[in-house]
Amino acid sequence: MAFTGYHMGRVAFTMLIAIFVAGANAIDIFLEWNVALDDTIQPVSLKQPVITINGKFPGPLINTTTNDFIHVNVFNNMEELLLFTWDGIQQWLNLWQDGVSSTNCPILPGKNWTYVFQTKGQISSFFYFPSINFHKAAGGFGPIRVYNCIVIAVPFPKPEAEFDLLIGDWIFDSYNTRSLIMEDKQMAFQAIPDIILMNGKGPYGHPLSKSYESFSVTKGKTYRFRISNVGTALSFNFRIQNHQMVIVETEGSYTNQITLDSLDVHVGQSYSVLVTADQNEVDYYIVATPKLLNNTGSRNLDGVGVLHYSNSITYVSGPLPAGPDPFDLEFSVNQAKSIRWNMIAGAARPNPQGTFNVTNVTLSQTFILQNSGAEIQGHPRYVVNNVSYLTPNTPLKLADYLKNGSQVYNLDQFPVKSVNDNASYGISVVTGNHKGWILDRACF
Ligand SMILES: *[C@@H]1O[C@H](CO)[C@@H](O)[C@H](O)[C@H]1NC(C)=O
Ligand SMILES: *[C@@H]1O[C@H](CO)[C@@H](O)[C@H](O)[C@H]1NC(C)=O
Ligand SMILES: *[C@@H]1O[C@H](CO)[C@@H](O)[C@H](O)[C@H]1NC(C)=O
Repeated sequence: MAFTGYHMGRVAFTMLIAIFVAGANAIDIFLEWNVALDDTIQPVSLKQPVITINGKFPGPLINTTTNDFIHVNVFNNMEELLLFTWDGIQQWLNLWQDGVSSTNCPILPGKNWTYVFQTKGQISSFFYFPSINFHKAAGGFGPIRVYNCIVIAVPFPKPEAEFDLLIGDWIFDSYNTRSLIMEDKQMAFQAIPDIILMNGKGPYGHPLSKSYESFSVTKGKTYRFRISNVGTALSFNFRIQNHQMVIVETEGSYTNQITLDSLDVHVGQSYSVLVTADQNEVDYYIVATPKLLNNTGSRNLDGVGVLHYSNSITYVSGPLPAGPDPFDLEFSVNQAKSIRWNMIAGAARPNPQGTFNVTNVTLSQTFILQNSGAEIQGHPRYVVNNVSYLTPNTPLKLADYLKNGSQVYNLDQFPVKSVNDNASYGISVVTGNHKGWILDRACF
């Protein structure tokens, strides 16, 4: 989904110069995707429907550079509606390509549709996924890289290699069964996933795993891992046995470079970390363990892969490296707060990130959003301020385009600073002042 980066605010003349400097090499990338359900993939040796793209699970890398134009011609070979979203791509002036149920129509079974979007003014690691009808629980996701334009320096030395690492919780059921469970009052909020996959592969050493994920490294070299949480429910703690990692980038920006033993990644988030192969040449565990869950005892959801040194002849063995207490909220919050913008690096443009001074802005709008579980007309639902979003038959952006939103939704019908007494469905659309905080000051 697109997100608004307040830091993307730039003064107009800088942008014009930047586009001139940085936009010159933007290219068009044409992709053709055949999307289908496949029950022979069997990531955990069980016959279950998995969504593949051109036969692959996870789907192919979308490899781009700042300002490139991506054309993805998606053929829906499933027998149901299909809609893709490009998590993190900002879709500047292009919202109707965002691919959630409020923006475009899904692709009909047996039909195709071409998404067109630009990685305008962006860098980073993101991922795409199918956004409706629980499809994400069946796969259909894949990595997106947005490289710097060639003329803009990356704030760390070029790594030996880069690895996309999509990690997410996974269920043994079909996505349809899980969607039915989520309609059941008794089970909906208790249902937890069954396992954690790494790049679509089961955990190392797990009896159900057909294969496991492994990355080969050479002693002395440094590697970039682009890690995303592609799951539907669980946050996880990521760590590599005996190795530290340096965070360098997240969610569209370079970060201050801090060294960590482990990293919490919440659903939908993406991070780049640098890992130097500076240990003895044996194999090491790569693990992703669930947060806020007692994972000891009979249930074992741990995601496990292997870091293999090219000269290693020693397999991993023994217990997984211990991580922080999964219930230690302070650890998670403090870690998140310690990750800051890199204020001296350029990213999509040559000028440093954060050149716009955001220390003394006057806030123009405040939203207070509270999420919770609720029951509406007998059905379990997640709600924000006690409203469960109801997808209208006409996507909002089409409604805007065709008839200025009339009859499809009414603006500001639902609270943004308080919680309704009773949970209800609603097509909640709120008024936002685009970059209102900039207009409050003379920033030119
Ligand atoms: C991605 O694109 C870059 C720049 O064009 C290229 O150097 C790199 O080899 C590509 N990587 C992959 C995995 O395709
Ligand atoms: C469907 O695919 C065909 C063949 O590639 C292409 O010419 C056409 O433009 C596509 N239709 C849409 C709506 O994207
Ligand atoms: C987690 O589960 C194990 C075994 O099922 C139990 O011994 C332990 O006390 C539990 N820990 C917490 C924090 O609930």
